[in-house]
Amino acid sequence: MEKNEQERLEILCLFCEINPEIVASLSSNIDVRRINTAADFEALIAAENEDPNTDKVCAVLYSQAGDTKHSTLEIAQCLAYKYPGKALLFITKDIANAKDRESIKKNGFDDLFIDPLEVDLLQKKILSILARHKSTGLKLYAPVKLVDLQVGDVFDFDVFFQLSVSKKYIRYIRAGIAVSSEVLEKFRKHSFNFLYIPEESLESFFKMAGAKLGSIDGKAGLSSTEKQHKVETLLRSVTYKFFDDKSAGVSAIGEGREIFKELNSIAENFILKSPKASWFKKMQMTLGGKQDPYSHSSRVGSLGSLFAIALGEGRPELISIAALVHDLGKTLLPSEIASKKEEDLTAVELIKYQLHPELSLRILKERRLIIDEDLTQCILLHHRKWNGSGYSSKAHSVGSLSIETQLLSIADEFDYLISSDTGGPKLSPAKAFDKLREKLEHNPILINRLKTIFCSQQDSP
Ligand SMILES: [Fe+2]
Ligand SMILES: [Fe+2]
Repeated sequence: MEKNEQERLEILCLFCEINPEIVASLSSNIDVRRINTAADFEALIAAENEDPNTDKVCAVLYSQAGDTKHSTLEIAQCLAYKYPGKALLFITKDIANAKDRESIKKNGFDDLFIDPLEVDLLQKKILSILARHKSTGLKLYAPVKLVDLQVGDVFDFDVFFQLSVSKKYIRYIRAGIAVSSEVLEKFRKHSFNFLYIPEESLESFFKMAGAKLGSIDGKAGLSSTEKQHKVETLLRSVTYKFFDDKSAGVSAIGEGREIFKELNSIAENFILKSPKASWFKKMQMTLGGKQDPYSHSSRVGSLGSLFAIALGEGRPELISIAALVHDLGKTLLPSEIASKKEEDLTAVELIKYQLHPELSLRILKERRLIIDEDLTQCILLHHRKWNGSGYSSKAHSVGSLSIETQLLSIADEFDYLISSDTGGPKLSPAKAFDKLREKLEHNPILINRLKTIFCSQQDSP
């Protein structure tokens, strides 16, 4: 076999209706192989691993089009056996499947994409898979903002800047080498709006940002105002994509998913350094492992804890833990109630629906999870508002809601205003803050501060 031929990669499309050009156009180095019949699929799985094509495969795309013989689980198991460690991607035309992302992943697929809505995202995913193979010569970079750079800082990834005309990336900070005073001076002089890091290093970047956020509080020689200013600047720099006014209608599909994933990563890296990290992990385990970052509970946890970090008020970890389970009780509601929008429920159904915070607690008790009073309050009162409106099975006096409960409640409603699981238009983050302020159900001082911290001075690359 020719050397050049050995280096070619293959994308396998099983029962897929997508246009192969969508994938093939990404690199001249890839071939697309289509398998469209159950018999061909069975022959593929039965073939011994010495099939020279097996190693070339870098991703498998699967959709259910035309195959009635095999279940999704069966397909996933066969693929995992045949192509261990390769990306298994589930493609669907049914937008309702977006809500079922978690169970598709539990079946063994790495991710789910909606065709045609998420074709851009699918291409991005395949590009990042291809970038991991040296033979493609592909390199992907993500824009980041570096703030609070100090002499002696060490990154575990290279940092680049981009030439404005040729769009070439030039290495600026080398991985593993401490930032020198010369580099710092250049950094200050150029005041780069954005620097770039290899896309596969984004997770490390957020880990670092989470650790930096966590360490600001213990920094000696800084006044509390200076600390607060540092926290706000750092948070703004890592969340700008999310709070950018252009992100109107951030949805749990398309671009929105990537952005939520980043928010989740920042919040989680902060929480995992907190004293309640073991609680957080225990709760995740009870719920069956790490939560889908695009789910409502993860989004509320990420937003709520970031709100607390930004304000310097309340315990972010408590909000994250409460958010993971706050709506768990909905799973005990009859499906005709759970599937309806709150505003469409009859008076009788509404009474049942409003019991869900209590049912969430009941589930935790049944699973023998011991939680403290603060966490119990957060879950039980998450639909109670600062002005006394809202509902809960437990009476509470106006003004007695803990700051964590208030921030959980704000994040819960904020997520409802900005997110759209069906891709419909929703509000931009800035407009969502305005809407919350207009309603006067939450403390307007908190809402104003949050809007100022997250939605001012935005720019994009
Ligand atoms: Fe709820
Ligand atoms: Fe909720």
